[in-house]
Amino acid sequence: MDLKPRRGGGRKMFRGGLAIVVGISLIGLYFSCTVLQDTMNIDRLFHLATSGNEPGSANGADSYLVWSHKCQIPNLDPFDESIRKFATHAKPIICSSKPPLTYVTVVHEGAHKYLLKLNTSAVAHYAVHPENVNCCYSVVTRVNGPDGKEYSRTADNYYSVSECSDFDTEVALHSEEEFILVRCFKTTTRGTKREVYKNTHAVVPVKREVELKLNKSNFEGSSVEKKRLSVFVLGLDSVSRLNLLRTMPKTVHYLRRNGWLELLGYNKIGENTLPNLAAILMGLSQVQMKKQCWVSRYEKFDNCPFIWREFSSLGYVTAYAEDEPAGSTFNYHKTGFVVPPTDYYIRPFLLASEDKLPVKKRASLNVCLGPTPTSEHIFRYITDFATVFKSALYFGVCWINNFSHSSNAIPATVDERVALFFHQLNETGAFNTTFMIFLSDHGMRWGDIRRTSIGWFEERLPFIYIWVPEWFKQKHPDFYKNLKTNRNRLTSPFDLHLTLREILEGSRQGNTTWIPYGCPGCPKCVSLFSEVPAERDCEDAGITANWCTCNKYRPMPIEDEASQAIAFHILSEINSKLKKAANVSASCAELTLDHVISVKRKVPMVSHDDFIVTFDTFPGGAVFEATVRRSDGAFQLKGDISRINSYGNQSDCVDDAELKLYCYCT
Ligand SMILES: *[C@@H]1O[C@H](CO)[C@@H](O)[C@H](O)[C@H]1NC(C)=O
Ligand SMILES: *[C@@H]1O[C@H](CO)[C@@H](O)[C@H](O)[C@H]1NC(C)=O
Ligand SMILES: *[C@@H]1O[C@H](CO)[C@@H](O)[C@H](O)[C@H]1NC(C)=O
Ligand SMILES: *[C@@H]1O[C@H](CO)[C@@H](O)[C@H](O)[C@H]1NC(C)=O
Ligand SMILES: *[C@@H]1O[C@H](CO)[C@@H](O)[C@H](O)[C@H]1NC(C)=O
Ligand SMILES: *[C@@H]1O[C@H](CO)[C@@H](O)[C@H](O)[C@H]1NC(C)=O
Ligand SMILES: *[C@@H]1O[C@H](CO)[C@@H](O)[C@H](O)[C@H]1NC(C)=O
Ligand SMILES: *[C@@H]1O[C@H](CO)[C@@H](O)[C@H](O)[C@H]1NC(C)=O
Repeated sequence: MDLKPRRGGGRKMFRGGLAIVVGISLIGLYFSCTVLQDTMNIDRLFHLATSGNEPGSANGADSYLVWSHKCQIPNLDPFDESIRKFATHAKPIICSSKPPLTYVTVVHEGAHKYLLKLNTSAVAHYAVHPENVNCCYSVVTRVNGPDGKEYSRTADNYYSVSECSDFDTEVALHSEEEFILVRCFKTTTRGTKREVYKNTHAVVPVKREVELKLNKSNFEGSSVEKKRLSVFVLGLDSVSRLNLLRTMPKTVHYLRRNGWLELLGYNKIGENTLPNLAAILMGLSQVQMKKQCWVSRYEKFDNCPFIWREFSSLGYVTAYAEDEPAGSTFNYHKTGFVVPPTDYYIRPFLLASEDKLPVKKRASLNVCLGPTPTSEHIFRYITDFATVFKSALYFGVCWINNFSHSSNAIPATVDERVALFFHQLNETGAFNTTFMIFLSDHGMRWGDIRRTSIGWFEERLPFIYIWVPEWFKQKHPDFYKNLKTNRNRLTSPFDLHLTLREILEGSRQGNTTWIPYGCPGCPKCVSLFSEVPAERDCEDAGITANWCTCNKYRPMPIEDEASQAIAFHILSEINSKLKKAANVSASCAELTLDHVISVKRKVPMVSHDDFIVTFDTFPGGAVFEATVRRSDGAFQLKGDISRINSYGNQSDCVDDAELKLYCYCT
């Protein structure tokens, strides 16, 4: 997710009472609360989180995750004193005090079919006389934009809602009906109707188009017999590896116990979700993507080379589900897609749910859609997708922002739910057929924790776990061995792209014309099924100096002339960015240097003289951080300038995602 919070500046964010409601039943979501007990049993958490956490072992360098001449990433303590205070607890959010009145269930009559049902035993919660309650349902459909050149920036936001058709206690859904809005009314003794219930349901029917595709693809038998992998990418936004250990010990325990593989040296390559996800899904750097298929934010993403398109043309069923549609990766201050990018695309459902249902917010995110926690819809959708297409091949991407984007603490409240989600996914048989990546894009990018030195590492080192089905391990023992070796190597999203590409080419087998492939964003990157070179530096892995965690930096005195000069250099870069955005600058203040907060210099100085500078500005108190290289006496900015505190409502006068980082509206 690319949104920064509009409300609740840095500080507040971590204090807020946070927590959650988790629906547990598979059909018919109900509420039960998982509340983290106080700031709490840190010791118990710590024990759970660290058991089996052997750090990098190469060269016996136990205190490093990655250890080579070119790269040393320290193994930091997730419960270090400096960040322990950020492991706060959360209060429950109750989406509804009543059980849902409707649910969907599946019947197998030759094919997979959905029934929308009224829960008659819940009616009493809504009316004294159950016979006076009547329900109707509408179908929500995406309104596709025109295929040609003409489209507006809002093309991805249209949906239609059909008229409400009455139903009694159950109704069978048609195979083109994916998203349902239900309303129930109570007839009063005076004969007037009053709405007592409103909810939405998303289902995964085998649509005609998809059935055609499956009929056409010549893959016979189950995935295991086919010896081809399905792929699933599940992302939780903004969770560092250390924050996963702190806040989701049950999930971590589950993953480790069940043989998921972890990559300890996985380093982000860009600021927020878009560049990191684009690197995985397209193999392009942000600059390349902008050149090749996304010239400006007014441009649609339809022309970008998402790898799911290639999987789709091989007969894979595709899905992309991201929550928080207003802030989602391809839509936040962007145009999104004019034509749905995948066979299954949940966006219209979420938009309609947000518009039609009462929404509950926490930390600026929509945590409840009517009676249901938003993430519950997503989990359910994914489990359904995996169930419906268990004997087909699929490529799914799911990205969840809701509970982690704006808070370090909230993930704790969904720990149990995520672990349960994996159990449910296991029951679908997905673990026998699917290569899964469970990961984040980066850690917390702003706020108090980000100002600690561990927070600097956390921003750059997201968690990542990989699941490989048993048959695949047996068929390719070398691939599996390499994956394990790569645990303690420096890796990046570009390596993941190549891994997906290798799976794709593996599935293409038999086609004599298979094309050699590479990764434009990182020519030296490799598929994780090969051994990543031990002696690899950030440049080899497509990671720019500002995101690189391989090096040590030592503080320099901030009063130094050099320190001040570096800060002024970055400040002038920011001001010239603001000036360049000609129309906008009228409303953005010119920034002046308030304080240099810190300057650090890379040690030892091998090939480059690099510095990290942090300073704040006036007006507005923005805190910026940048990496600067000095060569031949001149300074050169390396990578992006980070804004490490929240801009809140200061930048409301601009709607460009980058300018928002810098603009203080006058
Ligand atoms: C129906 O509602 C009752 C509560 O009134 C609940 O116990 C039951 O689990 C619900 N059934 C389904 C299928 O959701
Ligand atoms: C797909 O194949 C099945 C079985 O051969 C057939 O019944 C069905 O009509 C086909 N579907 C489409 C959309 O062509
Ligand atoms: C899936 O469930 C089976 C049976 O309960 C269990 O043995 C296995 O470890 C589980 N696998 C994963 C990856 O959760
Ligand atoms: C969002 O997170 C909250 C906790 O803050 C949780 O109660 C809710 O279930 C989540 N909902 C969605 C939509 O993810
Ligand atoms: C997964 O495969 C194992 C053996 O390979 C089998 O015993 C198990 O039933 C399968 N699980 C599912 C849910 O299909
Ligand atoms: C083989 O690959 C080429 C190039 O990707 C593609 O055009 C062709 O349709 C493929 N043939 C089959 C049978 O998959
Ligand atoms: C600047 O403003 C003019 C008129 O208000 C508008 O036509 C133009 O597109 C704007 N340029 C940019 C870069 O926003
Ligand atoms: C901006 O946010 C601050 C703090 O949250 C608040 O005090 C102020 O009134 C807001 N200003 C506007 C113009 O909304």
